[in-house]
Amino acid sequence: MATTFLFLLLSAIFIAKAQQGQSIVNPGSFLTPTTTTTTNSSWPSPSGRYAFGFYKQGNGYVVGVFFAGILEKTVVWTANRDDPPVSAAVTLNFTSDGRLVLQSAQGTTKSVAVPGETASSASMLDTGNFVVYNSDNQSIWESFQNPTDTLLPTQQLFYDDVLDSSVSESNQSTGRFRAIMQQDGFIALYPIGTPYYIEYGYWSKGIQGPRLNATLNLDVDGHLYLANGNGIVTISAGGNSTKGLLYRLRMDDDGFLRLYSYNTNQNGDWDVTWSADSIGKCDPKGLCGLNAFCVINDQQYNCTCLPGFAFVDESKRTLGCERNFTVDNCKEGTYVMEEAANTVWENDTYSLPLFSSNLEDCKISCLQDCNCEAALFKDGACRKQRLPMRFGRRQSDSSVALIKVITSTPSTNRTMTIERKKELRVDILIVSITLVAFAFIVLAISGFVIYRSHVSKHENVSNMGKFVDEDVGPRSFTYVELEKMTDGFKEELGRGAFGIVYKGMIGNGQKIVAVKRLEKLLADREREFQTEMKVIGKTHHRNLIRLLGYCHDGPNRLLVYEYMCNGSLADILFTPKKKPSWDERRGIACNIARGILYLHEECMPQIIHCDIKPQNILMDENRCAKLSDFGLAKLLKPDQSQTSTNIRGTRGYVAPEWHRRNCPVTVKVDVYSFGIVLLEIIFCRRSVDSNLPEEEAILEEWVYSCFECGELDKLINDEEVDKRQFERMVKVAFWCILEEPSLRPSMKKVLLMLEGTADIPVPPNPTSVISMI
Ligand SMILES: *[C@@H]1O[C@H](CO)[C@@H](O)[C@H](O)[C@H]1NC(C)=O
Ligand SMILES: *[C@@H]1O[C@H](CO)[C@@H](O)[C@H](O)[C@H]1NC(C)=O
Ligand SMILES: *[C@@H]1O[C@H](CO)[C@@H](O)[C@H](O)[C@H]1NC(C)=O
Ligand SMILES: *[C@@H]1O[C@H](CO)[C@@H](O)[C@H](O)[C@H]1NC(C)=O
Ligand SMILES: *[C@@H]1O[C@H](CO)[C@@H](O)[C@H](O)[C@H]1NC(C)=O
Ligand SMILES: *[C@@H]1O[C@H](CO)[C@@H](O)[C@H](O)[C@H]1NC(C)=O
Ligand SMILES: *[C@@H]1O[C@H](CO)[C@@H](O)[C@H](O)[C@H]1NC(C)=O
Ligand SMILES: *[C@@H]1O[C@H](CO)[C@@H](O)[C@H](O)[C@H]1NC(C)=O
Ligand SMILES: *[C@@H]1O[C@H](CO)[C@@H](O)[C@H](O)[C@H]1NC(C)=O
Ligand SMILES: *[C@@H]1O[C@H](CO)[C@@H](O)[C@H](O)[C@H]1NC(C)=O
Repeated sequence: MATTFLFLLLSAIFIAKAQQGQSIVNPGSFLTPTTTTTTNSSWPSPSGRYAFGFYKQGNGYVVGVFFAGILEKTVVWTANRDDPPVSAAVTLNFTSDGRLVLQSAQGTTKSVAVPGETASSASMLDTGNFVVYNSDNQSIWESFQNPTDTLLPTQQLFYDDVLDSSVSESNQSTGRFRAIMQQDGFIALYPIGTPYYIEYGYWSKGIQGPRLNATLNLDVDGHLYLANGNGIVTISAGGNSTKGLLYRLRMDDDGFLRLYSYNTNQNGDWDVTWSADSIGKCDPKGLCGLNAFCVINDQQYNCTCLPGFAFVDESKRTLGCERNFTVDNCKEGTYVMEEAANTVWENDTYSLPLFSSNLEDCKISCLQDCNCEAALFKDGACRKQRLPMRFGRRQSDSSVALIKVITSTPSTNRTMTIERKKELRVDILIVSITLVAFAFIVLAISGFVIYRSHVSKHENVSNMGKFVDEDVGPRSFTYVELEKMTDGFKEELGRGAFGIVYKGMIGNGQKIVAVKRLEKLLADREREFQTEMKVIGKTHHRNLIRLLGYCHDGPNRLLVYEYMCNGSLADILFTPKKKPSWDERRGIACNIARGILYLHEECMPQIIHCDIKPQNILMDENRCAKLSDFGLAKLLKPDQSQTSTNIRGTRGYVAPEWHRRNCPVTVKVDVYSFGIVLLEIIFCRRSVDSNLPEEEAILEEWVYSCFECGELDKLINDEEVDKRQFERMVKVAFWCILEEPSLRPSMKKVLLMLEGTADIPVPPNPTSVISMI
């Protein structure tokens, strides 16, 4: 009885306010989805044109603002648009303590408008703006300031404001396209979820002059324009004085921004007055979803799947396509490359494009690459891609998309063909290597001849100057010469296991060098020292430091190297400010592997580094990694003490077999150390860090435990990394650090796995000795 009285009272107030041109809603008011004799489902604006309240969506109800006075109930704003619709048993309650909440029959509440402070009243204005006020009558929340997909006359988009399309006409959840008023004064359209880069946008219009604070405006006469302090840029001219025309601008679910008008005198349909011009129906990127492309039939767009794919939902073709088979490993089964001609796609290649190839080469290249799932071929360039493929559309264009498609399930015949292919590739490799080697020999001989003639012409060039061009191996220096070069061993560059490094100059200050003074050297190894220097001096590889000269003068043993201005890998890896990007780190790992591979397989006699660690990897001016201190381990005096120094190498990086008796030391010790360094490169931290919690202190144990639980992802600290590459690299590292040397891969295999050309089986626990091969 009391409630009924309250209703009557409230209604009386409501009507009174409405007569003043504003319909005030006060705390204590409420709405229900269906109108009954005692309750309403919405609060109308004074003229009744707009209303705030419940409207039907699917089988449920949603709260929003809509055109009420016209035949078509058109939604212009939706509260909590991504929440599922509610049942008929809820109440929209403007509570006495000033909150606007949806209240279920069970009593749970959900906020509808979220003002920062307590609301004293609310009002549905005739502009279509629903406003919430505080006790001082100040607006504290407006639907105009929180637009969904529609902009109404007198509403403005300020910079960074967006209109996000809805899923469809009948579903107001967030769809796939966005219009944003950019800070640069452009109103631009993008697929939702892409960065605001030019390559993702597909339409824009901007204003000249001072671009800050540009706004997008719509006037009641349908004039749509951009404005800043300086002037305006008209997008759609209005000026229709005919009374009874309503306008709205909406970001539509097909990716177009359109201005609609409605003639209330005719009660017809909404007409399109203007739409984002100069773009085609298929231009909104991603219109057809993933792995699908857009085609135009009879001026309408339609979606088509890539070969081998089927629609996720045939009745909703824009949801994209998926494969109806799973691919775990490209070796299982027979694959062919199918073509989707005249289609353009997002260029998202994971490798450098292969140029001057033909379509067949491109297909073969993708078939042989287990990472390759598709390729884009255009104008002789082959770009290998992974799935999903995005932003596809048909266009008369020379580009062809190639998709890897399975044609039969695993069979033994397949393995044979693959192996035959591999043999073929090895053949090609051997021939190419021979040719390249031959070319190098010719080059070297001619270079030497030219050098000789050059030298004979410049007899007066000093010894030092001549040394700079030296190409025939390291030079022998006297101690006095080196003392002069380093200005009396003045500037120290660093200290390592083998001695102290000083900065020096040669050729009258033309070239900076690093001079290393060796310690702990065996006194009676004169011949061996020289032999070793000759071996090291002959090494020539872009990932190895060049030995320029050496000195064996009396008791002094010094080495002269090229100078690396960017310090050591340890320096850049463990200094947060210098931390290299993921791609750079991956490059560094491959370069180190190449350097070690050269020492292991291309040097006669073979060189085992024995002390691979970030401090011994130096970075040149292009931040290209170069190994240093290789070939020196043999010359070191074995220490007699019981500490870690009786093991060559550095604690933390040494392979376990050093600790075992009668266990031969092979190249696999370097593979082990490389594995530890690789983990450090991946995670940019030291392999042992006692400052961290106990379970994280030892890098390889921690990473392995995460790997085992399938939780590798949590180790990526919001860094931009390619997850597949990341996982590959971690797996390679685990293979390298296996306890049992024979199970560790060769450096050749390591490099192939790092480069993505060889498969990586799941690594066993590093401490287990059970053979997994
Ligand atoms: C429902 O709204 C109408 C006006 O639209 C008003 O006359 C009526 O009193 C309202 N009913 C209640 C219960 O608030
Ligand atoms: C609206 O679309 C969203 C997203 O696609 C979906 O989750 C939701 O179920 C849809 N709602 C209705 C009522 O169909
Ligand atoms: C509205 O909320 C208030 C406070 O939470 C409550 O007392 C009242 O019963 C609610 N009204 C309705 C109709 O649910
Ligand atoms: C709030 O605004 C209404 C209508 O504009 C006015 O009638 C009322 O006096 C104002 N109240 C206060 C406290 O300013
Ligand atoms: C832009 O707007 C902000 C606040 O709205 C204001 O402080 C600033 O001065 C404006 N800048 C220009 C260039 O108008
Ligand atoms: C104004 O509106 C009328 C009625 O819809 C239409 O016929 C006319 O073309 C419009 N004029 C302009 C300039 O938009
Ligand atoms: C798209 O194409 C398919 C097959 O050609 C056809 O069945 C379907 O009706 C088309 N859809 C539209 C929206 O044109
Ligand atoms: C996959 O889809 C293709 C084409 O739509 C069809 O021919 C093939 O039978 C399907 N395969 C499976 C396993 O469903
Ligand atoms: C494709 O992307 C690669 C790598 O980002 C880039 O080098 C290449 O220029 C791009 N090609 C085209 C046609 O955009
Ligand atoms: C495997 O190869 C043999 C002989 O080359 C052939 O007879 C057989 O049909 C092949 N099997 C499959 C599954 O392709």
